[in-house]
Amino acid sequence: MKQNRKVIEDNTLINLITPVGLTFQKDSVTVGEIKGSIYGAYKYPQKVGYGWIADIASEKNAITTITYYPDDSLLEGLSDSVKKYKEKAANAKTALEYSRATRAAECANEMVTKIDSNNESIGQISILTMPLCTKENEEAIQAVDRSVKSAYMRNFIKLHKMSREQEQAYKAMSPYYANQPQIDTMLKRIMPLSTVVGGFPFASSGFVDDNGYYWGLNSEKGLMALDAWCRGGDRTNSNFAVLGKSGTGKSTFIKHLIEIEYMRGTRILIIDPEGEYAKITTMLGGQVLNATGGKGARSNPLEFKAAPKLNKDDIKDDDDKKADLYKDSIGALALHLKTLEVFYRLYKPSLTDAQSDLLKQVLIELYLKFGITWNTDVTKLKSTDYPIQSDLLELLKEKAKDKASPYKSDYDQLVLYFTDIAQGGDSFIWNGHSTINSNSNVICFDTNELQNVSPNIKGAQYYNLTTWCWNEMTKNPNERVLLICDEAHLMIDKRVPEALYFLKSASKRCRKFTSGIVVASQSVVDFLADEIKAAGQALLDQPCYKVLFGTDGQNLTETANLFNLTNPQIELLEKQEIGVGITIVGKNKMKTYFDLPDYKFEFMGVPKVTGGAVGRKKSA
Ligand SMILES: Nc1ncnc2c1ncn2[C@@H]1O[C@H](COP(=O)(O)OP(=O)(O)OP(=O)(O)O)[C@@H](O)[C@H]1O
Ligand SMILES: [Mg+2]
Repeated sequence: MKQNRKVIEDNTLINLITPVGLTFQKDSVTVGEIKGSIYGAYKYPQKVGYGWIADIASEKNAITTITYYPDDSLLEGLSDSVKKYKEKAANAKTALEYSRATRAAECANEMVTKIDSNNESIGQISILTMPLCTKENEEAIQAVDRSVKSAYMRNFIKLHKMSREQEQAYKAMSPYYANQPQIDTMLKRIMPLSTVVGGFPFASSGFVDDNGYYWGLNSEKGLMALDAWCRGGDRTNSNFAVLGKSGTGKSTFIKHLIEIEYMRGTRILIIDPEGEYAKITTMLGGQVLNATGGKGARSNPLEFKAAPKLNKDDIKDDDDKKADLYKDSIGALALHLKTLEVFYRLYKPSLTDAQSDLLKQVLIELYLKFGITWNTDVTKLKSTDYPIQSDLLELLKEKAKDKASPYKSDYDQLVLYFTDIAQGGDSFIWNGHSTINSNSNVICFDTNELQNVSPNIKGAQYYNLTTWCWNEMTKNPNERVLLICDEAHLMIDKRVPEALYFLKSASKRCRKFTSGIVVASQSVVDFLADEIKAAGQALLDQPCYKVLFGTDGQNLTETANLFNLTNPQIELLEKQEIGVGITIVGKNKMKTYFDLPDYKFEFMGVPKVTGGAVGRKKSA
């Protein structure tokens, strides 16, 4: 049966597709009541400013079309042009010719280096613009023309009126876009994608997140704003690895990060072996705890909390099991005995396996004496319910009294070891009940006073505090917590790799608890020693955010290998400029100037360097 359907005509649409009265003159186009001239951008400056596209396209009485054709194969051609310009300079007959060719060669070379070093995409751009006016108001066109031209001049872009090519230019601009080879030949120019993207305000190539905070400036001096809690694609965690030689700006960057995160409500825990985070902690209303036995700052290694619960499915790989961060089938006490084993071995690396096993038995007995068994619900216990080091020493002494014991000599040795921790020189740090009771949003554990004690004590206390922090990070899965481990190489003890395994496993798992770990160190090499490589490498590699500052020697070689750096990126790190580094987010790498405002330095307690330090070479 024949259907009678009424067709509704949309005259506006018809006019758009087939405009009535579309005529082309030599220098202009008329579309119905509208008249205008089309211009093409044919020359660009060697450097464009941030937001340049927004600037040239903001004239409301003009239509601008920007077409970008990505084509990574152009890099070869660009590289060839460096050679061509150099040859041209060598054969130049006039000073002007020479200077132009040299400048062009330098510029092309700089672009090749930048594109290569940042793994950037490259392509060709073509820009057409059409200032408009109505036919009744033709004199207005001059004002619009002027305004458009001055926007281009401001950005050092040269415009050319497409005389005799108005028709092709109009077709190239039209929404039903038709490829116009003649226009392409005249206007297409090579440009890195970041320059195009950076032309829009608040945009750069993938380093501006919706909820991002000021991070730094990219190589174009464009804004970088990152949200470390953003998920999606290859951004699966909120961990950081911050690497670079001493004095290049790691701690300064971390302080900047602390401020950013504090502002967005993240709780910050800092382990501060250099005693340099006190100022920022105080400025942010946080608490500085002297973690060398200071008042209200003791963490009794013998105290433990309920272990964080995690699904069995989440614990898949062997390293996780090795690190034992979770309550699996075993209870909190069993888990804590493993933590203690690592702690005591860090403290006394000369403990033999047999002594370590004996110590474990004595610890179980000690806990039993305090009414703590495998099944005790530790959430109900107070700090004073736990034994302290002198209780352990007493029990060990008792054991050593038994002359018939086959382990007599080992007990004697243990008594000797534990006299120091319970009564002697090291008792000030650990012998006593826990006194840390801070719900502050910023807590800084200052271990600076351990500077002059043995690295074993430092390492053991670092581990002790990290386990305390891990508990804080996991107790409320919805609370965002960032743990700062500056000078993290202190956690490396090749004889006790478990300490590093702990940190690695914590950093792998913390995303489940909306937490992140920042690991900062001068030394990459230390993390890659054979004994700890499996954990060390993952700790540097796993974080979605890496910030690399200048370095040299073996550290530079290892950094380059680990992060797959290109030659220009290696050269950038080799320069060791203060506050200049490479930000790696997932697979993207970008040169970053950590150009921070003065007020931030006041907050940080970092001496302000007059004239601005960013980019200045680190003095030897
Ligand atoms: N982004 C920056 N802008 C300006 N100055 C900076 C910047 N970063 C670092 N500095 C200057 O360099 C000094 C050393 O920086 P910082 O303490 O951050 O280095 P570091 O890499 O942590 O060194 P170390 O490994 O010895 O701890 C700072 O005190 C500060 O004066
Ligand atoms: Mg530092």
